[in-house]
Amino acid sequence: MENVTNVMVVEHKLILRMVALVEKNADLVQQGKFDDWQFFLDAVDFIRSYADRFHHAKEEDTLFTALIANGMPEKNSPIEAMHIAHDQGRAFVRGMEGAAAKALAGESGQEAAIVENARGYAALLREHIHTEDNILYPLAERTLPSDVRPAMIKAYGQAETAVAADFTDRYTKMVERYEAQG
Ligand SMILES: [Fe+2]
Ligand SMILES: [Fe+2]
Repeated sequence: MENVTNVMVVEHKLILRMVALVEKNADLVQQGKFDDWQFFLDAVDFIRSYADRFHHAKEEDTLFTALIANGMPEKNSPIEAMHIAHDQGRAFVRGMEGAAAKALAGESGQEAAIVENARGYAALLREHIHTEDNILYPLAERTLPSDVRPAMIKAYGQAETAVAADFTDRYTKMVERYEAQG
């Protein structure tokens, strides 16, 4: 039977590397040791493009849809919880973007909002990815019938060809560049 979640677990690993950077740099901002505000705007770009438009779109349009079509309730269910977390993440990202943009423009006093939204996002995503990796994805592998899987793999492929050829490479390099910042 074709696996339909490994590719998502691999994407989680890159997302978690960015989450770790967001957390680390938020701590440094709080200690007054970090003022590369562009980092937080790049993190917003990574999260919106890679984590949300690319990865969460695969979940929402393909994986979750397949689970619902195969009997998982849409409301009061793990799927609803995952959708809510995606939306909560988007709210933290808007908060982080607004404060980082102001800081980059020279407005003082943005640190608390950056730290609060960065930490909120990081905690949310860690918990969310843990739930998907350990509960929802294994459940999908146990319950999705083999005949729906080829179309899912095809839909993932379409999401991958819809982005630029260097898309994953570009965001991997962004993570590596900030990890090298030390
Ligand atoms: Fe998710
Ligand atoms: Fe995910």
